[in-house]
Amino acid sequence: MEYRKFGNCDFSVSSLGFGCMRFPVIDKDPSKINEEKAIAMIRHAIDNGVDYIDTAYPYHGGNSEVLVGKALKDGYREKIKLATKSPVWLVKEYADFHKYLDEQLNKLQTDHIDFYLMHALNKDRFEDLKKNQVFKFLDEAIASGKIKYAGFSFHDDEEHFYEIVDSYPWTFCQIQLNYMDVEYQAGLRGLKYASEKGMAVVIMEPLKGGKLAGNPPTEVKELFESYDSSRTPANWALKWLYNFPEVTTILSGMSTMEQLQENLEIASNCKANEMNAEELEIMDKAKDAYLRLTKVNCTGCNYCQPCPFEVDIPRNFELYNEGHMFNTLEAASHTYNNLMPKNKSAANCSECGKCEEECPQNLPIRQLLKEVHASLGAK
Ligand SMILES: NC(=O)c1ccc[n+]([C@@H]2O[C@H](COP(=O)([O-])OP(=O)(O)OC[C@H]3O[C@@H](n4cnc5c(N)ncnc54)[C@H](OP(=O)(O)O)[C@@H]3O)[C@@H](O)[C@H]2O)c1
Repeated sequence: MEYRKFGNCDFSVSSLGFGCMRFPVIDKDPSKINEEKAIAMIRHAIDNGVDYIDTAYPYHGGNSEVLVGKALKDGYREKIKLATKSPVWLVKEYADFHKYLDEQLNKLQTDHIDFYLMHALNKDRFEDLKKNQVFKFLDEAIASGKIKYAGFSFHDDEEHFYEIVDSYPWTFCQIQLNYMDVEYQAGLRGLKYASEKGMAVVIMEPLKGGKLAGNPPTEVKELFESYDSSRTPANWALKWLYNFPEVTTILSGMSTMEQLQENLEIASNCKANEMNAEELEIMDKAKDAYLRLTKVNCTGCNYCQPCPFEVDIPRNFELYNEGHMFNTLEAASHTYNNLMPKNKSAANCSECGKCEEECPQNLPIRQLLKEVHASLGAK
């Protein structure tokens, strides 16, 4: 495992972090974590050098923090640095910050959180937080020892990223970055800006929620194989990120032990500044191909779920994207009309718009669901 310096701090963290948002689950229900498997995975990761564990209040229907608390018993808590996030959308007044932090410490069975983030900030949320005196809260929580370092995760346009970075002496930030998203949200410019300010930069969605790790479209497959037929798509994507010295740690939300093992191996073998010009050109072309073929920029994070009308929004977008990316629209349409339960399909959208308030990608979900139905629905 490689360890990278945590911004201006005098310690390092493992270059692979464990993202606790995509544990193996039972009956495809995100709130029912397969505890035995998830605990085994977290402990295997720690036994193999991972020392950064990232969870959050809402992950797995509120059960991720509880699971992490259990996994970190038997001496594992002392071996790692623990990150979790304040559910800022629930904070209506100052006292709520403390209320949720105490609840989280309780769920995680710990007396302190190493890295505490304001979760999924955008312009509006940040304005609300400032009204509720977020900086006073962070100073107090650090002084009390309940949190060690303050940071934020970010989902909005680049300009707002700079405003937030410059507003407080944050130790670190968490941004979405992968080889498709170089110009999206904070993007590569945001990575460099925060790093130059001495902040540690933690990467989320490095495989775009798994989209860059599955079977790639033919064009991308051929590009990758022209250079090295043994390298997996996940390896290409993670290697590209590790190539940036400004990247501190990459969080991956691994769902199986095999994925964890592969990502551990990749993290052990990748260093900064080691990709050559030919490899970088391949990544550039792969990005262009994906951008051309992707209809909906959904990462499957599930923040939009549950839909009050039970529409499985990520699955509808996945079908739609796959149909276009692999030229299999007929098969996608068959699945949509015959295999997907009617209440889960795009046709069941009532346009309440609740999902759009939650989507970190700011997708116009209602409009996009109409497009999915027009494209895949029975003619
Ligand atoms: N703060 C925020 O606003 C925010 C938002 C999003 C994420 N996060 C954090 O960042 C973490 C990382 O983001 P992410 O979970 O989206 O990471 P990611 O690595 O982009 O996606 C994870 C998914 O990629 C697939 N995968 C991982 N390793 C693989 C491998 N070696 N081979 C094939 N597939 C592989 C799995 O998908 P399959 O299930 O398809 O196999 C897995 O569920 C999260 O877990 C969470 O802790 C934070």
